[in-house]
Amino acid sequence: MNTEAMIIRKAGESDTEPVRKLLSTYFLNMEGVGIKNFIVAESNGRVLGCAAIVENKYPELHSIAVHPNHRSRGIGSLLVGYFAANAPDGREWLYVRTTAPRFFENMGFRKLQDSEKVKLWDDCAGCDMLEGCSQSAMRLQLKK
Ligand SMILES: CC(C)(COP(=O)(O)OP(=O)(O)OC[C@H]1O[C@@H](n2cnc3c(N)ncnc32)[C@H](O)[C@@H]1OP(=O)(O)O)[C@@H](O)C(=O)NCCC(=O)NCCS
Repeated sequence: MNTEAMIIRKAGESDTEPVRKLLSTYFLNMEGVGIKNFIVAESNGRVLGCAAIVENKYPELHSIAVHPNHRSRGIGSLLVGYFAANAPDGREWLYVRTTAPRFFENMGFRKLQDSEKVKLWDDCAGCDMLEGCSQSAMRLQLKK
């Protein structure tokens, strides 16, 4: 893909509606995550992709989405790559819980066992659906 015109940048308040609209394409929402936690992929003034990082116990990637007409052109990889390259010092891992594990595997993420999932996330530890969960928990080792 020609990524020359593609900018990956931190989101600002004015990106709230474009991000909300993009996520709604996939029946996703901002999950209570503030717009300042998001980055966007912008081309010709249009938001074509977004993703967020939530820092609780560990940094976790949330709400990644690429406009349906622009998928499979490397935008999702650029968004993940931005977070990996700009992780704060001292961070060893970037986590994700996802329904698209193949995409994250291609990016170098590796799957975690349920036993690790329950140690990492309180909401997983308290969940009755853990075994049948549609989300794969994965992590990427950050290179420093
Ligand atoms: C997942 C997503 C963010 C990837 O962004 P993208 O810009 O299409 O990704 P890239 O172009 O960098 O990489 C594409 C590759 O990732 C993989 N991939 C992308 N989406 C995938 C999915 N839903 N399931 C499995 N693999 C996927 C494929 O290997 C694909 O390569 P291919 O097109 O040659 O088959 C995007 O497809 C998307 O918005 N999906 C819908 C929302 C979603 O499922 N978000 C994840 C929720 S955790």
